[in-house]
Amino acid sequence: MDVTFVLLGATGDLTKRKLIPAIYHLLANKAVDKVLLVGVARRKIAIQSILKEAKTFISKPNNNIWQKIVVSSYYQQLDFYDEEHYAALGRRLENLEAKHELSGNRLFYLATLPQHFDTITLNLSKTKIARQTSQNWSRLVYEKPFGNDLASARKINSCISRAFREDQVYRIDHYLGKELVGNIAILRFTNRVFEPLWNRHHLESVQVTFDEDIGLAGRGNFYDKYGALKDVVQNHVLQILALIAMESPQKLTGKFIRDEKAKVLKKIKVSDVLLGQAKPYRKEPKVNPKSHTETFSAIKLNINNNRWRGVPFYIRAGKYLHRKEVSIHLKFKPIHCLLTTTCPSDTNYLTIRVNPNEGFTLELFAKVPGQANHVQSALMDHSHDRLRQISSPEAYQVLLHEVILGNQSLFVRDDEIEHAWKVIDSIKSRNWKVFPYPAGSPGPKELSLFEKKHKMRWR
Ligand code: BG6
Repeated sequence: MDVTFVLLGATGDLTKRKLIPAIYHLLANKAVDKVLLVGVARRKIAIQSILKEAKTFISKPNNNIWQKIVVSSYYQQLDFYDEEHYAALGRRLENLEAKHELSGNRLFYLATLPQHFDTITLNLSKTKIARQTSQNWSRLVYEKPFGNDLASARKINSCISRAFREDQVYRIDHYLGKELVGNIAILRFTNRVFEPLWNRHHLESVQVTFDEDIGLAGRGNFYDKYGALKDVVQNHVLQILALIAMESPQKLTGKFIRDEKAKVLKKIKVSDVLLGQAKPYRKEPKVNPKSHTETFSAIKLNINNNRWRGVPFYIRAGKYLHRKEVSIHLKFKPIHCLLTTTCPSDTNYLTIRVNPNEGFTLELFAKVPGQANHVQSALMDHSHDRLRQISSPEAYQVLLHEVILGNQSLFVRDDEIEHAWKVIDSIKSRNWKVFPYPAGSPGPKELSLFEKKHKMRWR
């Protein structure tokens, strides 16, 4: 298979850090035989300088493979709002594809701000650059964030649906390309020890944690308009939650999974929120010194359906925290204790670690050896680090490969995006107080009041 990658927004960080390294790995793993890479953006810049930076994000690059990228990479300056520029891009693509003897499968990656999505989509459609024939395909990939609220996401979706077919459209959420997120459905639907217990009769609560120890990493301008809720909860966290909570799909493939995720997202009702802002945040470059943007959010929500009625779901997501940990904790209900001595003080947990230290742990109870009726917790731990012979591929590599294969399971459909924005809009429509917290801490001190109020414990 050969592919022409058209990277719109090529001067941004994503192209250098993730997309070009992912294309390199696709070539190295022979997932594609030949590529043409055309970087597109407004600025005047040489492709060599983009490649030079991108190379630093590939560990131990193989020179032969890197050279394949170097000799087939180009740059095209383009004003997103000028139709003529797209026509020129189209002519250039035709010439380069002929020169490199490529069949014209085109992957357009929109790594731009979402406010340009409509215009770029319409111009790609009008100028027929993203046309499909019986011999080749054209697919469009939209980077997150997909809009800024429900209204803007709807506007982009309606523009896309007027210009392209949904099976050409891939809305990225890079967490869906992570190994352990992919494992959620496998773990649940291939193990009889889990699936019958995955409901309100056996689970007491579910927690999704998205703790980050980093700050803004130079993204003050973007982050101050978005904040934790729009930056990671609307997408990564709610997608993880939807995968955990969905009903069993007919098959673990694109349409069926997306149907079930959409149904869950539609049923979410938020019941409590705690927002926080890290103390150093307002001093970050390009952040308003009086900003009220949240860098932390804790949420209690319910999923109003037969499987989950009465089971609280807790979300915690923030930056500048004491650790990096993305994980899911399923807490089982206590069992009637028959012991005459001390009973276990806690219950069973299934913890899925998404990032770092990918794997999962089942916390059970077992007898203390040599002591009658004394129990201790017994951890059953499956860690991907121990599978040394296999290293997990980067999420963007997985996702680009899926686009090339034409498989949409790991991408978000229009209705899912809109339901998720509704959840965020419902939180934003109320004026929640934003509590300060020191960098390097677990979050605002009010978190312990939240625990007391809801009779829960953060993990
Ligand atoms: C991005 C957010 O989507 O995900 C960032 O915009 C966040 O703010 C990042 O840091 C986390 O992704 P990862 O893969 O580094 O855990």
